[in-house]
Amino acid sequence: MSLKSRQMHLMSRPNGMPTPENFEMRTVDVGGPGPGEVLVRNRWMSVDPYMRPRMIGMEDSYIPPFSLGEAMDGTAVGEVLESADPAFSRGDLVLSFMGWREAFTAPADQLEKIDCPPGIDEQAFLGVLGMPGLTAYSGLLHLGQPVPGETIFVSGAAGAVGSYVCQIAKIKGLNVVASVGSEEKCAWVLGRGVDHAINYKTVPNLLEAVQAAAPRGIDIYFDNVGAEHLEVALETANQFARFVECGMIATYNDVGRRPGPCNIINIVLKSIRMEGYINSTLAARTPGLKEAFLRDMLQWIAEGRIRWEETVIEGIENALDGFLQLFTGGNVGKMLIRIG
Ligand SMILES: NC(=O)c1ccc[n+]([C@@H]2O[C@H](COP(=O)([O-])OP(=O)(O)OC[C@H]3O[C@@H](n4cnc5c(N)ncnc54)[C@H](OP(=O)(O)O)[C@@H]3O)[C@@H](O)[C@H]2O)c1
Repeated sequence: MSLKSRQMHLMSRPNGMPTPENFEMRTVDVGGPGPGEVLVRNRWMSVDPYMRPRMIGMEDSYIPPFSLGEAMDGTAVGEVLESADPAFSRGDLVLSFMGWREAFTAPADQLEKIDCPPGIDEQAFLGVLGMPGLTAYSGLLHLGQPVPGETIFVSGAAGAVGSYVCQIAKIKGLNVVASVGSEEKCAWVLGRGVDHAINYKTVPNLLEAVQAAAPRGIDIYFDNVGAEHLEVALETANQFARFVECGMIATYNDVGRRPGPCNIINIVLKSIRMEGYINSTLAARTPGLKEAFLRDMLQWIAEGRIRWEETVIEGIENALDGFLQLFTGGNVGKMLIRIG
């Protein structure tokens, strides 16, 4: 079997917000699988903020930059159409790193078979049961080290990672202050039990809003955003606060040198522990972490204590639009592209 597949190529490195001119959609022929290979048609692909730094070309990052002129990649869930490897059969659902394309042939050892637990759809493996879920769980529990009764400030709180962090924080008995970019998102996080929701786009003063929501200061800052949110967290942090540096999406479109937080001295003055991490690296050096994540998440989901939202964009031709909406707040929960 062979088929046509559309795939998205990076043609130039964006300066600022990417535009359609930086990319090109091409149609390629995908042949049948050779020995040990599998032919897969994607059904879902993930668009994620980390893809933006990969468009810049930073050689010393934890993940290689996208190559100019080549198809981009990322996590995807697909269906096996044809297999020349005994580990996979037609109809199997597989997780791969072959996103940004409709179909592909790959060696079997680059695919992971998915078994959907009852009542859970396959695309959950791109969100709550996948990389963003692991990021939330590992960052909050291993770096944040929450103690019941403490206060956590979460930025980007209605996105994929942030929305899971808020709910795990409530499970762990924290007082949660969530920052989000719309009233709809405020309502969603409040509906999931957070104690205070702040619309950072409309409050007159973010620092005063966080101080009002956390009058006794914050003990953990879960950073998805960086920039002003990080400065506010440094200002409102208590002694011995933990800063979980997960991401800084507010800076990803600034390709030059970025200004540091003006009040970084607070790390010294307040004995703050600030730690960055990459989910896969942390999982690789923490035995049992991934297993504990899946076990706890599945239990919390079954108990109704973790819920998730998805924003679904239809068609690979609209994948770039979905990706760009991550930077304008177009998603509630996980941003997904349905391909098949
Ligand atoms: N360390 C790791 O291993 C790891 C793994 C996955 C993700 N991450 C990081 O975690 C963060 C969240 O990722 P995600 O996949 O869950 O994305 P997401 O939160 O689902 O989507 C991005 C959200 O960021 C917010 N945002 C965009 N620009 C902003 C700005 N200038 N200021 C404030 N908020 C802004 C938007 O929400 P609003 O409407 O609220 O503005 C948007 O919906 C990102 O920084 C990402 O790089 C890190």
